Amino acid sequence: MSNSQKSVAIVTGASSGIGLGLVQALLARDYAVIATSRTATKSKNLAASPNLVLVDGDIGKKTTAVAVANAAMKHFGRIDLLVNNAGMFMSKLFTDYTEEDFALMVSTNVASFFYMSQQVIPAMQRQKSGHIVNISTTLVDQPVLGVPASLPVLTKSTMSAVSRELAIEYAAQGIRINTVSPGTVNTPMHASEDHETLKKLHPIQRLAEISDIVDAVLYLTSASFVTGENLRVDGGAHAGRW
Ligand SMILES: NC(=O)c1ccc[n+]([C@@H]2O[C@H](COP(=O)([O-])OP(=O)(O)OC[C@H]3O[C@@H](n4cnc5c(N)ncnc54)[C@H](OP(=O)(O)O)[C@@H]3O)[C@@H](O)[C@H]2O)c1
Repeated sequence: MSNSQKSVAIVTGASSGIGLGLVQALLARDYAVIATSRTATKSKNLAASPNLVLVDGDIGKKTTAVAVANAAMKHFGRIDLLVNNAGMFMSKLFTDYTEEDFALMVSTNVASFFYMSQQVIPAMQRQKSGHIVNISTTLVDQPVLGVPASLPVLTKSTMSAVSRELAIEYAAQGIRINTVSPGTVNTPMHASEDHETLKKLHPIQRLAEISDIVDAVLYLTSASFVTGENLRVDGGAHAGRW
């Protein structure tokens, strides 16, 4: 199939939560989308569409990134947007994290960014345009007593830093790289019985909705003079104490 007129997006972590919301929003805006996660093809939420291609795989592995980028080129012929959204959260006291926890978090939150971004940039260079959005967390800027998260912070804090580095590296080639840092979002990542407590983590005392994060990604995608930005969507949590 050739469909080179459409803008083409890759969304990782697409079977649930923010990633699923992004896929739905991009399809509604007439993007062609490659949606990937370990269980993308089994997800009942990802409805069949000629503009949607599903790729299963562990996003921490280079083989998955290669398969995803190849699928985008084979089906749609270009790559305009990559959202490095797949990620995981694990709250433990620092000394309780195991070697296995460390390896899993680095693989899911950092190797995923590295392999996937490396795979899409050559296509974006050929096009002389493209946009990468990395999903971080506001905990990087605003750690919370009672929510021990040193491994999430260790693995996610790199996103805004490397986005700024890549923004400089690729600005002249028409490729933009930005970060979105959500507060706590109403997704399957959090049990509903925790929501009342989690709301208090934001000065605007509600959870972020998936649409809040999707809107931030869509804004950055349309903002052709914005690169290296870290857009915090956290109800003001990064701004100070409350
Ligand atoms: N929810 C929040 O409060 C919050 C706050 C700040 C930042 N974030 C960040 O936002 C992003 C999305 O979070 P979410 O709340 O939407 O999460 P979610 O509902 O738990 O969904 C996570 C997605 O990532 C995929 N995934 C997880 N491990 C994977 C792996 N090894 N390989 C491939 N896919 C994998 C899952 O699909 P499969 O199970 O099918 O693989 C799923 O599609 C994450 O990076 C998270 O750290 C979330």
